[in-house]
Amino acid sequence: MEISVLQHPVADHETPCLILGVVEGKPPTSLLQRLDEALDGVIGRAADCREFRGETGRTLLVHGSRGLACERLLLVGLGKEQELSAESLRRAAALAAATVRERRLESCSLALAHLNSRLPVAVVTEAWVEGLQLADYRFERYLAADPGRPAPLARLTLLADSDSTATAVRQSALRSQAVCQGVFLARDLVNEPGNIKSPAFLAERATQLAAENDLECTILDRGALEREGFGALLGVAQGSLREPRLIQLNYRGATDEQPVILIGKGVVFDSGGISLKPGENMDQMKMDMAGAATVFGTLLTTALLRLPVNLTGLVPAVENMPSGNALRPGDILTSLSGKTIEVLNTDAEGRLILADALSYAQRFAPREVIDVATLTGACVIALGHHAAALLGNHQGLLRRLRLAGEVCGERLWPLPLWKEYGQQLKSEIADLKNIGGRPAGTITAAAFLEHFARDFRWAHLDIAGTAWQEKAADYRPVGATGFGVRLLVTYLSRLCGGTEKRPDS
Ligand code: BES
Ligand code: MN
Ligand code: ZN
Repeated sequence: MEISVLQHPVADHETPCLILGVVEGKPPTSLLQRLDEALDGVIGRAADCREFRGETGRTLLVHGSRGLACERLLLVGLGKEQELSAESLRRAAALAAATVRERRLESCSLALAHLNSRLPVAVVTEAWVEGLQLADYRFERYLAADPGRPAPLARLTLLADSDSTATAVRQSALRSQAVCQGVFLARDLVNEPGNIKSPAFLAERATQLAAENDLECTILDRGALEREGFGALLGVAQGSLREPRLIQLNYRGATDEQPVILIGKGVVFDSGGISLKPGENMDQMKMDMAGAATVFGTLLTTALLRLPVNLTGLVPAVENMPSGNALRPGDILTSLSGKTIEVLNTDAEGRLILADALSYAQRFAPREVIDVATLTGACVIALGHHAAALLGNHQGLLRRLRLAGEVCGERLWPLPLWKEYGQQLKSEIADLKNIGGRPAGTITAAAFLEHFARDFRWAHLDIAGTAWQEKAADYRPVGATGFGVRLLVTYLSRLCGGTEKRPDS
C-alpha cells in the first residue's frame, strides 16, 4: 500500500472514497456540517432516522454531489467519545477497509483533520493506518490470479489539516508501515504450508532478511548443534527427515549495551511425534512456528525503525514427526544445560527446544530474555483467543510487557509461577520430566522453562490462542495474526525512550 500525506481542504479533495470517522452523540463537527450541506442534508437525515449516528461498528456510504470533489463519502462510526481509544480506531479502520474492498476501490483518502479528539495526532494516525493495512492483508500466494477477486488497497492518502500535523502524520504513517511490514512477514511465514517451510527454509528466510536489512545472521546446523550439545533440541528433531537449525539474528542499534534476547518457538510442523495428535485440526499445527515468525517480524520492524537498542533473535527450528528414528515416550535427553529430561510425551516438544535456546541465550549476557511460543493447548482453554499468557521471573519486565500490550491492542494476561507447581515436574529417574499432568498446563510448561532461565530476567509469552484465527475478526483476517510483533515493537520502543503513550492518554 502506497501512502501519501496531503494538506488540502477536505471538501476539495478528489478521491474515489473519502473516509471520515464520526464520534457518536456529539454535535457535528464543522467539517461534517460542510459535507452535509454539500450533500443536501443526507447525513442529517440518516441521523434523524437512526440509520447512522456514529455508533461503533456502523458505517454510512453516500455518493458525492456537485458540491463535493470526492466520488463517495464513507462515514465510519467511532462510538462515544469516552470510549475512543487507539484500539477502537483500529477496529473502525478495519471496517472502513472491508467496505472499501467490497466496493473494489483501489484507492481512498482518510480525513484526519478535525477529529477534535483528546488522542494525540500520532496515536490517531498510527491506529488508522495500522487498522487499514492489517485488515487488508490476505495470503494469496497459492491462489490462481482471478480478476473477480477484490484487489488490496493500492493507495491511501492521509489528509492533514495543518503543516504541523502533516509532519506528525507523515512520521506516524512511516512508522505504521514499518510495523505492518513486520506483522506481514510474520503472517506470511505462519500461513506458509508445512511442506514448504522446513527448518532450512526458515534459516534461508532469515539469511535473506539479514542481507536486506543490515542484520547479522548465524545458522547452526545439525553438526554444530551436536558439537555444542543441544541434546533436547536434537531429540525433538530426530524423528524428521528435515534437519534442525538454530537461527540467530543480531541487530545492533546501540553501542555498548547488553542485548535484549527474543526466543521464538520454531516447530515448523507439530504432529505430536510418537505421541501423535488426533487428526482433527492437525493441519493447524503448521502454525507452531508462530513464535519464530514473531521474532523475525520484530527484528525486521526494529531494523526498519532503527530503534536504539541491541536485539538478538534466537529461533530453534525443528519438525516434530513420528518415524523409526523418532523420540520415544520414556526416553531421557541431556539438555545443553546438562540437566536431564525424561520425555513422557513427545507432543510436549516446544519446551524441549526452548530449554536449549534459553541455555544458549546465557552466552550473550542478556539484559533480558523474552520467549514467544505456541506452547500449550491449555492456554487456549484458559484465555481463549483474546490474550496471550504471560509468565516469568521478573515483575518489572512483566509489568512493562503488559502495558505495551494494552497500548497496542495485543493483550497479555498473567498466570502465577509459584514454586508449588514445580512439584508436578519431578521425575524419579531424571532431573525433570517434560509434562506436569492436566492441572495448570500452561503454568507447568513455564515452570519447566524456568529451570533453564535461572540467570537472567525472563518473560514467557504463550501465544497458542492468539497466533491463529479460524474466522476473520476486526483487523485480523483469517489464519495467521502476526500476534506479538506489535507488542514487542511497542515494548522495545518504550524501553528505549519511545514516545508512545498509554491508549487513553
Ligand atoms: N504446539 C502445541 C500447543 C498448541 C495447541 C498450540 C493448540 C496451538 C494450538 C504443543 O506442542 C503441544 O502439543 N502441547 C501439548 C502439551 C501436553 C502434551 C503436555 C498440549 O497442549 O496438549
Ligand atoms: Mn506438541
Ligand atoms: Zn508444539
